Amino acid sequence: MKPKVDLRKIKAEELKTIDLDTVDINLEAPDFEPQRQYYFMAKCREWVREFERKYGRRPFAFIQTFGCQMNAKDSEKLIGILRQTGFEESPQQEEADLILYNTCTVRDNANQKVYGHLGYLQTLKKKRPHLIIGLCGCMMQEAQVVEKIQKSYSFVDLVFGTHNIYKLAELLYGRLKGKSMVIDIWESTKQSVEELPARRKYAFKSGVNIMYGCNNFCSYCIVPYVRGRERSRQPEEILDEIRRLAADGVKEVMLLGQNVNSYGKTLEEPMSFARLLRQVAQIDGVERIRFMTSHPKDLSDELIEAMRDCKKVCRHLHLPLQSGSSRILEQMNRHYTKEQYLDLVERIRQAVPEISLTTDIIVGFPGETEEDFQETLDVVRKVGFDSAFTFIYSKRTGTPAAAREDQIPEEVVKDRFERLLKTVQQIASQVCARDLGKIRDVLVESVNDHQEGYVSGRLSSNLLVHFPGDASLIGQILPVKLTEAKGFYYMGMVNKEAV
Ligand code: SAH
Ligand code: SF4
Ligand code: F3S
Repeated sequence: MKPKVDLRKIKAEELKTIDLDTVDINLEAPDFEPQRQYYFMAKCREWVREFERKYGRRPFAFIQTFGCQMNAKDSEKLIGILRQTGFEESPQQEEADLILYNTCTVRDNANQKVYGHLGYLQTLKKKRPHLIIGLCGCMMQEAQVVEKIQKSYSFVDLVFGTHNIYKLAELLYGRLKGKSMVIDIWESTKQSVEELPARRKYAFKSGVNIMYGCNNFCSYCIVPYVRGRERSRQPEEILDEIRRLAADGVKEVMLLGQNVNSYGKTLEEPMSFARLLRQVAQIDGVERIRFMTSHPKDLSDELIEAMRDCKKVCRHLHLPLQSGSSRILEQMNRHYTKEQYLDLVERIRQAVPEISLTTDIIVGFPGETEEDFQETLDVVRKVGFDSAFTFIYSKRTGTPAAAREDQIPEEVVKDRFERLLKTVQQIASQVCARDLGKIRDVLVESVNDHQEGYVSGRLSSNLLVHFPGDASLIGQILPVKLTEAKGFYYMGMVNKEAV
Protein backbone atom coordinates (compact mmCIF):
# COMPACT_ATOMS: atom_id res chain seq x y z
CA MET A 1 0.00 0.00 0.00
CA LYS A 2 1.21 3.47 -0.88
CA PRO A 3 1.82 5.84 2.05
CA LYS A 4 -1.05 8.29 2.56
CA VAL A 5 -0.46 11.89 1.59
CA ASP A 6 -1.27 14.86 3.82
CA LEU A 7 -2.35 17.58 1.35
CA ARG A 8 -1.59 20.27 3.91
CA LYS A 9 2.09 19.52 3.35
CA ILE A 10 2.02 19.45 -0.45
CA LYS A 11 3.11 22.44 -2.55
CA ALA A 12 0.67 23.88 -5.10
CA GLU A 13 2.99 23.00 -8.03
CA GLU A 14 2.98 19.33 -7.08
CA LEU A 15 -0.79 19.05 -7.08
CA LYS A 16 -1.30 18.65 -10.81
CA THR A 17 0.60 15.37 -10.87
CA ILE A 18 -0.66 13.97 -7.60
CA ASP A 19 -2.50 10.64 -7.46
CA LEU A 20 -5.67 11.56 -5.59
CA ASP A 21 -6.18 7.97 -4.46
CA THR A 22 -3.14 8.34 -2.22
CA VAL A 23 -4.57 11.34 -0.35
CA ASP A 24 -5.42 10.81 3.29
CA ILE A 25 -9.03 11.96 3.43
CA ASN A 26 -9.41 11.13 7.10
CA LEU A 27 -7.26 14.12 8.00
CA GLU A 28 -8.77 17.56 8.31
CA ALA A 29 -9.30 19.56 5.11
CA PRO A 30 -6.48 22.05 4.35
CA ASP A 31 -7.68 25.59 5.02
CA PHE A 32 -5.85 27.05 2.02
CA GLU A 33 -6.26 26.79 -1.74
CA PRO A 34 -5.90 25.04 -4.07
CA GLN A 35 -4.94 22.15 -1.73
CA ARG A 36 -8.37 22.30 -0.12
CA GLN A 37 -10.12 21.60 -3.42
CA TYR A 38 -7.86 18.65 -4.23
CA TYR A 39 -8.79 17.27 -0.82
CA PHE A 40 -12.50 17.49 -1.68
CA MET A 41 -11.91 15.95 -5.11
CA ALA A 42 -10.33 13.00 -3.29
CA LYS A 43 -13.30 12.92 -0.89
CA CYS A 44 -15.78 12.87 -3.79
CA ARG A 45 -13.90 9.92 -5.25
CA GLU A 46 -15.27 7.77 -2.44
CA TRP A 47 -18.74 8.48 -3.77
CA VAL A 48 -17.60 7.80 -7.35
CA ARG A 49 -16.21 4.40 -6.32
CA GLU A 50 -19.46 3.54 -4.62
CA PHE A 51 -21.31 4.56 -7.77
CA GLU A 52 -19.06 2.32 -9.86
CA ARG A 53 -19.73 -0.64 -7.60
CA LYS A 54 -23.45 -0.06 -7.89
CA TYR A 55 -23.77 0.68 -11.61
CA GLY A 56 -20.71 -0.99 -13.07
CA ARG A 57 -19.51 2.22 -14.73
CA ARG A 58 -18.26 5.70 -13.92
CA PRO A 59 -20.78 8.50 -13.41
CA PHE A 60 -21.39 10.76 -16.42
CA ALA A 61 -21.28 14.55 -16.22
CA PHE A 62 -22.86 16.92 -18.73
CA ILE A 63 -22.08 20.64 -18.75
CA GLN A 64 -23.88 23.21 -20.86
CA THR A 65 -22.41 26.67 -21.41
CA PHE A 66 -24.90 29.44 -22.05
CA GLY A 67 -22.65 32.49 -22.23
CA CYS A 68 -19.52 34.11 -23.65
CA GLN A 69 -15.94 32.84 -24.01
CA MET A 70 -15.26 33.54 -20.36
CA ASN A 71 -18.23 31.42 -19.43
CA ALA A 72 -16.91 28.67 -21.75
CA LYS A 73 -13.50 28.90 -20.12
CA ASP A 74 -15.14 28.47 -16.70
CA SER A 75 -16.89 25.36 -18.02
CA GLU A 76 -13.52 23.87 -18.99
CA LYS A 77 -12.38 24.36 -15.41
CA LEU A 78 -15.55 22.74 -14.08
CA ILE A 79 -15.11 19.74 -16.38
CA GLY A 80 -11.47 19.49 -15.29
CA ILE A 81 -12.52 19.24 -11.65
CA LEU A 82 -15.21 16.67 -12.39
CA ARG A 83 -12.88 14.48 -14.44
CA GLN A 84 -10.28 14.58 -11.70
CA THR A 85 -13.02 13.50 -9.32
CA GLY A 86 -13.75 10.46 -11.49
CA PHE A 87 -16.62 11.59 -13.69
CA GLU A 88 -16.67 10.94 -17.40
CA GLU A 89 -17.95 13.57 -19.78
CA SER A 90 -21.17 12.78 -21.57
CA PRO A 91 -22.33 14.58 -24.70
CA GLN A 92 -25.97 13.88 -23.81
CA GLN A 93 -27.82 15.12 -20.80
CA GLU A 94 -30.29 12.23 -21.04
CA GLU A 95 -27.69 9.76 -19.82
CA ALA A 96 -25.91 12.06 -17.38
CA ASP A 97 -25.72 11.51 -13.63
CA LEU A 98 -24.71 15.11 -13.03
CA ILE A 99 -25.94 18.04 -15.13
CA LEU A 100 -24.40 21.45 -14.69
CA TYR A 101 -25.70 24.57 -16.41
CA ASN A 102 -23.20 27.40 -16.60
CA THR A 103 -25.57 30.30 -17.11
CA CYS A 104 -25.47 33.78 -18.68
CA THR A 105 -27.65 36.77 -17.88
CA VAL A 106 -26.44 39.42 -20.31
CA ARG A 107 -29.86 39.54 -22.02
CA ASP A 108 -33.22 38.30 -20.81
CA ASN A 109 -33.43 35.60 -23.49
CA ALA A 110 -30.34 33.97 -21.97
CA ASN A 111 -32.26 33.65 -18.68
CA GLN A 112 -35.41 32.42 -20.38
CA LYS A 113 -33.43 29.69 -22.09
CA VAL A 114 -32.27 28.36 -18.73
CA TYR A 115 -35.77 28.42 -17.22
CA GLY A 116 -37.06 26.65 -20.33
CA HIS A 117 -34.50 23.86 -19.92
CA LEU A 118 -35.18 23.52 -16.19
CA GLY A 119 -38.65 22.14 -16.83
CA TYR A 120 -37.08 19.37 -18.90
CA LEU A 121 -34.48 18.66 -16.21
CA GLN A 122 -37.28 18.06 -13.75
CA THR A 123 -38.72 15.32 -15.99
CA LEU A 124 -35.25 13.80 -16.32
CA LYS A 125 -34.86 13.77 -12.56
CA LYS A 126 -38.19 12.05 -12.12
CA LYS A 127 -36.92 9.26 -14.36
CA ARG A 128 -33.49 9.17 -12.75
CA PRO A 129 -33.86 10.21 -9.11
CA HIS A 130 -30.12 9.97 -8.41
CA LEU A 131 -29.45 12.73 -10.99
CA ILE A 132 -27.59 15.72 -9.52
CA ILE A 133 -28.52 19.08 -11.02
CA GLY A 134 -26.30 22.14 -10.60
CA LEU A 135 -26.69 25.74 -11.74
CA CYS A 136 -23.79 28.16 -11.76
CA GLY A 137 -22.47 31.24 -13.55
CA CYS A 138 -23.61 34.79 -14.05
CA MET A 139 -27.36 34.34 -13.66
CA MET A 140 -26.87 32.90 -10.18
CA GLN A 141 -25.27 36.15 -9.03
CA GLU A 142 -28.72 37.75 -9.12
CA ALA A 143 -30.62 37.47 -5.85
CA GLN A 144 -34.05 37.31 -7.50
CA VAL A 145 -32.95 34.36 -9.65
CA VAL A 146 -31.75 32.34 -6.67
CA GLU A 147 -34.98 33.13 -4.81
CA LYS A 148 -37.01 31.88 -7.75
CA ILE A 149 -34.99 28.67 -7.95
CA GLN A 150 -35.44 27.98 -4.27
CA LYS A 151 -39.15 28.57 -4.54
CA SER A 152 -40.10 27.02 -7.86
CA TYR A 153 -37.27 24.63 -8.76
CA SER A 154 -36.55 22.89 -5.49
CA PHE A 155 -35.28 19.78 -7.32
CA VAL A 156 -32.03 21.64 -8.09
CA ASP A 157 -29.15 20.34 -5.97
CA LEU A 158 -26.38 22.89 -6.32
CA VAL A 159 -26.38 26.64 -6.90
CA PHE A 160 -23.19 28.68 -7.07
CA GLY A 161 -21.99 31.83 -8.78
CA THR A 162 -19.08 33.17 -10.78
CA HIS A 163 -16.60 33.88 -7.98
CA ASN A 164 -16.44 30.39 -6.50
CA ILE A 165 -16.54 27.99 -9.42
CA TYR A 166 -13.19 26.63 -8.22
CA LYS A 167 -15.07 25.26 -5.19
CA LEU A 168 -17.13 22.79 -7.22
CA ALA A 169 -15.64 19.70 -5.53
CA GLU A 170 -16.26 21.06 -2.04
CA LEU A 171 -19.84 22.07 -2.88
CA LEU A 172 -20.55 18.77 -4.57
CA TYR A 173 -19.24 16.90 -1.56
CA GLY A 174 -21.54 18.98 0.64
CA ARG A 175 -24.50 17.96 -1.51
CA LEU A 176 -23.52 14.29 -1.58
CA LYS A 177 -23.30 14.20 2.19
CA GLY A 178 -26.32 16.39 2.92
CA LYS A 179 -29.96 16.26 1.95
CA SER A 180 -30.91 19.70 0.71
CA MET A 181 -29.99 22.18 -2.01
CA VAL A 182 -26.50 23.65 -1.53
CA ILE A 183 -26.38 27.37 -2.29
CA ASP A 184 -23.13 29.31 -2.23
CA ILE A 185 -23.06 32.73 -3.85
CA TRP A 186 -20.36 35.31 -3.17
CA GLU A 187 -20.90 39.02 -3.68
CA SER A 188 -17.34 39.53 -4.80
CA THR A 189 -13.83 38.19 -4.46
CA LYS A 190 -10.24 39.31 -4.52
CA GLN A 191 -8.96 35.79 -4.81
CA SER A 192 -8.68 33.75 -7.97
CA VAL A 193 -7.66 30.12 -7.63
CA GLU A 194 -5.86 29.06 -10.78
CA GLU A 195 -3.92 25.87 -10.14
CA LEU A 196 -6.83 23.56 -10.65
CA PRO A 197 -7.28 20.92 -13.35
CA ALA A 198 -8.95 22.12 -16.56
CA ARG A 199 -10.13 20.17 -19.55
CA ARG A 200 -9.53 21.92 -22.88
CA LYS A 201 -12.26 21.56 -25.46
CA TYR A 202 -9.68 21.67 -28.25
CA ALA A 203 -6.17 20.22 -28.11
CA PHE A 204 -4.70 22.93 -30.35
CA LYS A 205 -6.32 26.12 -29.08
CA SER A 206 -7.20 27.54 -25.73
CA GLY A 207 -8.65 30.58 -24.01
CA VAL A 208 -6.50 32.15 -21.29
CA ASN A 209 -8.00 34.46 -18.69
CA ILE A 210 -5.86 37.53 -18.29
CA MET A 211 -8.33 39.44 -16.15
CA TYR A 212 -11.67 39.01 -14.47
CA GLY A 213 -14.59 41.36 -13.93
CA CYS A 214 -15.30 44.79 -15.35
CA ASN A 215 -15.22 48.36 -14.03
CA ASN A 216 -16.90 50.11 -16.92
CA PHE A 217 -20.54 50.05 -15.94
CA CYS A 218 -21.96 50.67 -19.39
CA SER A 219 -25.44 51.78 -18.41
CA TYR A 220 -27.25 48.84 -20.05
CA CYS A 221 -24.92 46.08 -18.89
CA ILE A 222 -25.26 43.60 -16.03
CA VAL A 223 -21.76 42.08 -16.37
CA PRO A 224 -20.00 44.33 -13.78
CA TYR A 225 -22.67 43.36 -11.23
CA VAL A 226 -22.37 39.62 -11.79
CA ARG A 227 -18.63 39.38 -12.48
CA GLY A 228 -17.40 41.92 -9.97
CA ARG A 229 -14.58 44.46 -10.17
CA GLU A 230 -11.70 44.28 -12.60
CA ARG A 231 -8.83 42.06 -11.46
CA SER A 232 -5.78 41.44 -13.66
CA ARG A 233 -3.69 38.31 -13.27
CA GLN A 234 0.06 38.69 -12.80
CA PRO A 235 1.85 38.69 -16.19
CA GLU A 236 4.26 35.93 -15.10
CA GLU A 237 1.35 33.71 -14.13
CA ILE A 238 -0.28 34.25 -17.54
CA LEU A 239 2.96 33.68 -19.45
CA ASP A 240 3.68 30.50 -17.48
CA GLU A 241 0.22 29.17 -18.28
CA ILE A 242 0.73 29.89 -21.98
CA ARG A 243 4.18 28.27 -21.97
CA ARG A 244 2.64 25.15 -20.47
CA LEU A 245 -0.14 25.21 -23.07
CA ALA A 246 2.38 25.59 -25.88
CA ALA A 247 4.40 22.66 -24.53
CA ASP A 248 1.19 20.69 -24.58
CA GLY A 249 0.60 21.36 -28.29
CA VAL A 250 -1.55 24.49 -28.22
CA LYS A 251 -0.96 26.67 -31.29
CA GLU A 252 -3.56 29.36 -30.79
CA VAL A 253 -4.35 31.27 -27.61
CA MET A 254 -7.21 33.66 -27.02
CA LEU A 255 -6.50 36.16 -24.25
CA LEU A 256 -9.75 36.73 -22.40
CA GLY A 257 -11.16 39.64 -20.44
CA GLN A 258 -14.20 41.92 -20.56
CA ASN A 259 -11.92 44.80 -21.46
CA VAL A 260 -8.44 43.52 -22.28
CA ASN A 261 -7.25 47.00 -23.18
CA SER A 262 -7.29 48.01 -19.56
CA TYR A 263 -5.24 44.95 -18.56
CA GLY A 264 -2.66 45.55 -15.87
CA LYS A 265 -3.78 49.00 -14.78
CA THR A 266 -4.64 47.82 -11.29
CA LEU A 267 -1.56 45.64 -10.77
CA GLU A 268 0.92 46.63 -8.08
CA GLU A 269 3.45 47.03 -10.87
CA PRO A 270 1.24 48.36 -13.65
CA MET A 271 1.71 46.86 -17.08
CA SER A 272 -0.01 47.49 -20.40
CA PHE A 273 -1.90 45.00 -22.54
CA ALA A 274 0.39 45.85 -25.45
CA ARG A 275 3.43 44.77 -23.45
CA LEU A 276 1.75 41.56 -22.40
CA LEU A 277 0.88 40.85 -26.03
CA ARG A 278 4.50 41.30 -27.11
CA GLN A 279 5.65 38.91 -24.41
CA VAL A 280 3.09 36.28 -25.36
CA ALA A 281 4.26 36.58 -28.97
CA GLN A 282 7.76 35.54 -27.88
CA ILE A 283 6.62 32.18 -26.60
CA ASP A 284 7.81 29.37 -28.88
CA GLY A 285 5.08 27.09 -30.16
CA VAL A 286 2.35 29.71 -29.96
CA GLU A 287 1.60 30.57 -33.57
CA ARG A 288 -1.59 32.56 -33.30
CA ILE A 289 -2.79 35.03 -30.69
CA ARG A 290 -6.29 36.42 -30.42
CA PHE A 291 -7.92 38.54 -27.73
CA MET A 292 -11.41 39.45 -26.58
CA THR A 293 -12.83 42.00 -25.88
CA SER A 294 -11.38 45.39 -26.72
CA HIS A 295 -13.12 48.49 -25.45
CA PRO A 296 -12.59 51.34 -27.93
CA LYS A 297 -12.03 53.88 -25.16
CA ASP A 298 -8.90 52.07 -23.96
CA LEU A 299 -7.39 50.96 -27.26
CA SER A 300 -3.98 52.63 -27.27
CA ASP A 301 -1.54 53.48 -30.05
CA GLU A 302 0.89 51.23 -28.23
CA LEU A 303 -1.49 48.33 -28.82
CA ILE A 304 -1.94 49.20 -32.50
CA GLU A 305 1.86 49.16 -32.87
CA ALA A 306 2.10 45.81 -31.10
CA MET A 307 -0.52 44.36 -33.43
CA ARG A 308 1.36 45.72 -36.42
CA ASP A 309 4.71 44.33 -35.25
CA CYS A 310 3.70 40.90 -33.96
CA LYS A 311 2.92 38.65 -36.88
CA LYS A 312 1.50 36.03 -34.54
CA VAL A 313 -1.30 38.38 -33.53
CA CYS A 314 -4.26 37.49 -35.70
CA ARG A 315 -5.48 40.00 -38.23
CA HIS A 316 -8.81 40.34 -36.49
CA LEU A 317 -10.13 42.84 -34.02
CA HIS A 318 -13.48 42.65 -32.29
CA LEU A 319 -14.30 46.25 -31.45
CA PRO A 320 -17.79 46.66 -29.99
CA LEU A 321 -19.47 49.81 -31.29
CA GLN A 322 -22.82 49.46 -29.45
CA SER A 323 -24.22 52.58 -31.12
CA GLY A 324 -23.15 55.01 -33.82
CA SER A 325 -24.83 57.98 -32.15
CA SER A 326 -22.56 60.08 -29.93
CA ARG A 327 -25.60 61.14 -27.92
CA ILE A 328 -26.57 57.52 -27.17
CA LEU A 329 -22.94 56.51 -26.60
CA GLU A 330 -22.73 59.12 -23.87
CA GLN A 331 -25.87 57.81 -22.23
CA MET A 332 -24.49 54.30 -22.51
CA ASN A 333 -21.43 55.52 -20.57
CA ARG A 334 -19.09 54.30 -23.30
CA HIS A 335 -16.65 57.25 -23.18
CA TYR A 336 -16.15 57.69 -26.94
CA THR A 337 -17.99 59.46 -29.74
CA LYS A 338 -18.89 58.34 -33.23
CA GLU A 339 -16.00 60.38 -34.61
CA GLN A 340 -13.50 58.93 -32.14
CA TYR A 341 -14.59 55.41 -33.08
CA LEU A 342 -14.20 56.11 -36.79
CA ASP A 343 -10.84 57.74 -36.22
CA LEU A 344 -9.67 54.72 -34.24
CA VAL A 345 -10.73 52.39 -37.07
CA GLU A 346 -8.81 54.59 -39.49
CA ARG A 347 -5.63 54.41 -37.40
CA ILE A 348 -5.89 50.64 -37.00
CA ARG A 349 -6.42 50.16 -40.73
CA GLN A 350 -3.44 52.35 -41.54
CA ALA A 351 -1.18 50.26 -39.31
CA VAL A 352 -2.66 46.86 -40.16
CA PRO A 353 -4.33 47.19 -43.58
CA GLU A 354 -5.50 43.59 -43.84
CA ILE A 355 -7.29 43.67 -40.47
CA SER A 356 -10.77 42.20 -40.24
CA LEU A 357 -13.09 44.17 -37.97
CA THR A 358 -16.12 42.77 -36.18
CA THR A 359 -18.41 44.41 -33.68
CA ASP A 360 -21.39 44.30 -31.30
CA ILE A 361 -24.36 46.63 -31.78
CA ILE A 362 -27.38 47.23 -29.58
CA VAL A 363 -30.61 48.61 -31.06
CA GLY A 364 -33.43 50.11 -29.07
CA PHE A 365 -31.47 51.57 -26.16
CA PRO A 366 -33.88 53.82 -24.16
CA GLY A 367 -34.48 57.13 -25.92
CA GLU A 368 -32.93 55.98 -29.23
CA THR A 369 -34.49 57.99 -32.08
CA GLU A 370 -34.59 57.20 -35.79
CA GLU A 371 -31.78 59.78 -36.23
CA ASP A 372 -29.66 57.97 -33.65
CA PHE A 373 -30.31 54.71 -35.44
CA GLN A 374 -29.31 56.27 -38.79
CA GLU A 375 -25.98 57.21 -37.19
CA THR A 376 -25.45 53.55 -36.33
CA LEU A 377 -26.20 52.52 -39.93
CA ASP A 378 -23.80 55.20 -41.08
CA VAL A 379 -20.93 53.77 -39.02
CA VAL A 380 -21.75 50.25 -40.23
CA ARG A 381 -21.47 51.47 -43.83
CA LYS A 382 -18.35 53.56 -43.24
CA VAL A 383 -16.40 50.85 -41.40
CA GLY A 384 -17.52 47.82 -43.41
CA PHE A 385 -17.47 45.19 -40.66
CA ASP A 386 -16.69 41.57 -41.50
CA SER A 387 -19.53 40.69 -39.20
CA ALA A 388 -21.54 42.21 -36.40
CA PHE A 389 -23.41 40.67 -33.51
CA THR A 390 -26.62 42.65 -33.38
CA PHE A 391 -28.72 42.68 -30.22
CA ILE A 392 -32.09 44.02 -29.26
CA TYR A 393 -31.69 46.07 -26.09
CA SER A 394 -32.71 44.00 -23.09
CA LYS A 395 -33.70 45.62 -19.81
CA ARG A 396 -31.47 44.33 -17.00
CA THR A 397 -32.77 44.93 -13.49
CA GLY A 398 -30.37 47.02 -11.45
CA THR A 399 -28.69 48.79 -14.38
CA PRO A 400 -29.26 52.56 -14.81
CA ALA A 401 -30.79 52.19 -18.29
CA ALA A 402 -33.46 49.80 -17.01
CA ALA A 403 -34.88 52.49 -14.74
CA ARG A 404 -35.49 54.88 -17.64
CA GLU A 405 -39.03 55.64 -18.67
CA ASP A 406 -38.29 56.21 -22.34
CA GLN A 407 -38.00 52.53 -23.29
CA ILE A 408 -38.57 51.98 -27.01
CA PRO A 409 -41.71 50.14 -28.16
CA GLU A 410 -41.09 46.60 -29.36
CA GLU A 411 -42.35 47.13 -32.93
CA VAL A 412 -40.03 50.09 -33.44
CA VAL A 413 -37.02 48.13 -32.16
CA LYS A 414 -37.86 45.08 -34.26
CA ASP A 415 -38.11 47.20 -37.39
CA ARG A 416 -34.73 48.83 -36.70
CA PHE A 417 -33.21 45.47 -35.89
CA GLU A 418 -34.33 44.02 -39.24
CA ARG A 419 -32.96 46.98 -41.15
CA LEU A 420 -29.65 46.81 -39.28
CA LEU A 421 -29.31 43.10 -39.88
CA LYS A 422 -29.93 43.51 -43.59
CA THR A 423 -27.32 46.26 -43.89
CA VAL A 424 -24.77 44.33 -41.85
CA GLN A 425 -25.23 41.17 -43.92
CA GLN A 426 -25.12 42.95 -47.24
CA ILE A 427 -21.85 44.68 -46.39
CA ALA A 428 -20.32 41.64 -44.71
CA SER A 429 -20.86 39.40 -47.72
CA GLN A 430 -18.92 41.88 -49.86
CA VAL A 431 -16.17 42.51 -47.32
CA CYS A 432 -15.72 38.84 -46.54
CA ALA A 433 -15.01 37.99 -50.16
CA ARG A 434 -11.85 40.13 -50.29
CA ASP A 435 -9.43 37.19 -50.04
CA LEU A 436 -11.07 35.18 -52.85
CA GLY A 437 -8.48 33.43 -55.00
CA LYS A 438 -5.68 34.02 -52.48
CA ILE A 439 -3.69 31.47 -50.52
CA ARG A 440 -4.08 31.90 -46.79
CA ASP A 441 -3.07 29.97 -43.67
CA VAL A 442 -5.88 27.99 -42.10
CA LEU A 443 -5.82 26.35 -38.68
CA VAL A 444 -7.87 23.17 -39.11
CA GLU A 445 -10.41 22.80 -36.30
CA SER A 446 -12.74 19.91 -37.08
CA VAL A 447 -14.13 17.54 -39.65
CA ASN A 448 -17.09 19.07 -41.43
CA ASP A 449 -20.41 17.72 -40.18
CA HIS A 450 -22.32 18.62 -43.30
CA GLN A 451 -20.05 17.53 -46.09
CA GLU A 452 -18.27 14.21 -45.97
CA GLY A 453 -14.56 14.27 -46.77
CA TYR A 454 -14.26 17.94 -45.74
CA VAL A 455 -12.65 19.71 -42.80
CA SER A 456 -13.21 23.21 -41.42
CA GLY A 457 -10.70 25.69 -40.15
CA ARG A 458 -10.16 29.37 -39.50
CA LEU A 459 -8.24 32.10 -41.22
CA SER A 460 -6.26 34.62 -39.23
CA SER A 461 -9.23 36.91 -39.86
CA ASN A 462 -11.41 34.39 -37.99
CA LEU A 463 -13.46 33.49 -41.07
CA LEU A 464 -14.26 29.82 -41.60
CA VAL A 465 -12.94 27.84 -44.55
CA HIS A 466 -14.19 24.39 -45.58
CA PHE A 467 -11.97 22.23 -47.77
CA PRO A 468 -11.32 18.56 -48.63
CA GLY A 469 -9.39 16.73 -45.93
CA ASP A 470 -9.65 14.31 -43.05
CA ALA A 471 -9.36 14.22 -39.26
CA SER A 472 -5.56 13.81 -39.41
CA LEU A 473 -5.31 17.49 -40.39
CA ILE A 474 -6.96 18.79 -37.20
CA GLY A 475 -4.65 21.13 -35.33
CA GLN A 476 -2.41 21.82 -38.34
CA ILE A 477 -1.90 25.20 -39.98
CA LEU A 478 -2.07 24.73 -43.76
CA PRO A 479 -1.90 27.03 -46.78
CA VAL A 480 -5.32 26.92 -48.40
CA LYS A 481 -6.39 28.46 -51.68
CA LEU A 482 -9.73 30.23 -51.21
CA THR A 483 -11.68 29.13 -54.26
CA GLU A 484 -15.24 30.22 -53.47
CA ALA A 485 -16.60 33.02 -51.27
CA LYS A 486 -19.90 32.07 -49.67
CA GLY A 487 -20.70 35.26 -47.80
CA PHE A 488 -19.63 34.34 -44.30
CA TYR A 489 -17.24 31.53 -45.14
CA TYR A 490 -15.03 30.22 -47.93
CA MET A 491 -14.62 26.95 -49.73
CA GLY A 492 -11.01 26.11 -50.47
CA MET A 493 -8.35 23.61 -51.45
CA VAL A 494 -5.02 22.86 -49.79
CA ASN A 495 -2.28 24.43 -51.85
CA LYS A 496 0.05 21.50 -52.45
CA GLU A 497 2.94 23.53 -53.86
CA ALA A 498 3.08 25.70 -50.77
CA VAL A 499 2.99 22.80 -48.24
N1 SAH B 1 -17.17 43.39 -22.44
C1 SAH B 1 -17.61 43.29 -23.73
C2 SAH B 1 -18.99 42.74 -23.95
C3 SAH B 1 -19.66 41.83 -23.02
S1 SAH B 1 -21.34 41.52 -23.31
C4 SAH B 1 -17.59 44.69 -24.34
O1 SAH B 1 -17.66 45.67 -23.68
O2 SAH B 1 -17.56 44.74 -25.51
C5 SAH B 1 -21.42 41.22 -25.04
C6 SAH B 1 -22.32 42.14 -25.77
O3 SAH B 1 -23.65 42.00 -25.32
C7 SAH B 1 -22.04 43.61 -25.60
O4 SAH B 1 -21.02 44.07 -26.41
C8 SAH B 1 -23.36 44.24 -25.96
O5 SAH B 1 -23.44 44.52 -27.34
C9 SAH B 1 -24.36 43.16 -25.61
N2 SAH B 1 -25.16 43.54 -24.45
C10 SAH B 1 -24.74 43.79 -23.20
N3 SAH B 1 -25.77 44.14 -22.42
C11 SAH B 1 -26.87 44.14 -23.20
C12 SAH B 1 -28.25 44.44 -22.99
N4 SAH B 1 -28.69 44.83 -21.81
N5 SAH B 1 -29.09 44.33 -24.04
C13 SAH B 1 -28.66 43.94 -25.25
N6 SAH B 1 -27.39 43.66 -25.50
C14 SAH B 1 -26.48 43.75 -24.50
FE1 SF4 C 1 -20.55 45.34 -20.06
FE2 SF4 C 1 -19.43 47.58 -20.82
FE3 SF4 C 1 -18.13 45.98 -19.15
FE4 SF4 C 1 -18.46 45.27 -21.67
S1 SF4 C 1 -17.27 47.02 -20.95
S2 SF4 C 1 -18.78 44.01 -19.89
S3 SF4 C 1 -20.45 46.11 -22.18
S4 SF4 C 1 -20.01 47.08 -18.73
FE1 F3S D 1 -23.07 36.25 -20.09
FE2 F3S D 1 -21.66 36.35 -17.94
FE3 F3S D 1 -20.46 36.28 -20.27
S1 F3S D 1 -23.52 37.44 -18.29
S2 F3S D 1 -21.90 37.30 -21.60
S3 F3S D 1 -21.70 34.70 -19.42
S4 F3S D 1 -19.78 37.38 -18.49
